[in-house]
This record gives sequence, structure tokens and C-alpha cells, in this order.
Amino acid sequence: MKWDNNIIESLAWGKAITRKEEKEKVAARIASMVTDGDVLGVGSGSTAYTALLSIAARIKVEGLHIKAIPTSLEITMACARLGIPVANLDEYRPNWTFDGADEIDPELSLIKGRGGAMFREKLLINSSPKTYIVADSSKMVSRLGEKFPVPVEVFPQALTYVGEALRRLSPSDMNLRMAENKDGPVITENGNLILDVWFDSIPPDTEAAIKSITGVIESGLFIGYPVEIIVM
Ligand code: A5P
Repeated sequence: MKWDNNIIESLAWGKAITRKEEKEKVAARIASMVTDGDVLGVGSGSTAYTALLSIAARIKVEGLHIKAIPTSLEITMACARLGIPVANLDEYRPNWTFDGADEIDPELSLIKGRGGAMFREKLLINSSPKTYIVADSSKMVSRLGEKFPVPVEVFPQALTYVGEALRRLSPSDMNLRMAENKDGPVITENGNLILDVWFDSIPPDTEAAIKSITGVIESGLFIGYPVEIIVM
């Protein structure tokens, strides 16, 4: 039985999608790679969302049977709206994953997590035999940390301890991420807080150093992951 008034059906991407044309080209490329029966890890952000729309269009025309393992609530809702069945990592390992990025350096290391979903994104990427990072050309940087901070998801009770431990890594700045349409800080889908940490330089061992701090759930640093980049 269907709801008469389904809030999910009227949802669209919250803000205007920037560089839409580039994102649509990347999206078409991702959609062309889908084969019937695939279980796809679906990353977050407007580029991954645009790719999901292209995949949904193929499903509609060709009747493909696809399952998605989403990395965030907004992508879970988009799947519901588009009629794409959702699965989880207990049931399936994704055949492959696609996801966006905030920064991509010349070695293909990444900063992710502007959308706050870096924990599930890293879980999906590590679970997948193959990951494609989809992005527009503005994401290419000469060094990580050029335009974006490194987001660090923190267990709330550990905030002060983690902040102090992160300070030992010599960040240039560090802020608790604040919510926009809610008072107080952003609360992640896992019930945690996010510290946005700015660095003037990010040596390769920074990801492990951040992860080793008790109370850190995950960071948005992806250094040396075996990803393939699709940029238009
Ligand atoms: C989400 O947490 C991020 O890792 C996104 O993948 C990233 O912010 C990309 O978003 P856009 O595709 O909207 O730039």
C-alpha cells in the first residue's frame, strides 16, 4: 500500500547544484558502467546524487535490477524516491562504489566529508573491490588542505580530549562544525560531532595519526586509497 502524501517523493537536492553540466557528464559515464544485478555503494554529495539520477533513468528504461548501499540519509531518501532498492553491508558486499570528493591531489589522495558522511563513505570504499571518485574539475588541488579542512568525526564525550590531541598535530585552525538550520553543532548520522581541522601541510601519516586518537570515529582523509578518478 502506498502513502497518499509522501514527503520523500517531493524531495530534491537541497541547494542549486553547481557545475551541473560537468557533473551530468560524469554521471552519464557512471551510469553507463552499471550492469544488471550490480550492488552499488553510493557515496554522498551532489555529484554522487547526479550519478544516482542517471542510473535511475537507465533502470527505468532498461528494467535493470540494481541494489544500492547508501552512505547517508539523503542518498537513502533519494533511493526511496527513485524506487532503487536499498541494501546494507550485512547482506551484501558492493560490486563497486562511486563517491564524490572535496579535494583530489596529484597522488589521488582525497579530502572528503563536507557532507559529514565520511565514516560510512570510508566503510563503503574499503568494502568495495573498486571505487570511482566522481568530481568536477574544481576539486583538483596541488596539495590537500588547500581549500578544505580535514573533517574529524568525534564521539561527543571525547570532544575536549580529541581537540587537545589534534592540537599536537599542529593544525593552523580547528572549529566545531555548527549546524545551519538548528541551534548548536552538527550532529552526524552516528550521533557524533565534527571538528573541521585546517592544516598547512598534510604528511602521509596524518590519517593514521588522527585515527589513533581515542574518541575519533573517522576522518575525511583518504591517503593512498586505490580509487579511480573520473573528472570532467
Ligand atoms: C560527503 O561527505 C563528501 O565526502 C562528498 O563526497 C563531497 O562533499 C562531494 O560533494 P559534491 O559532489 O557536492 O561536491
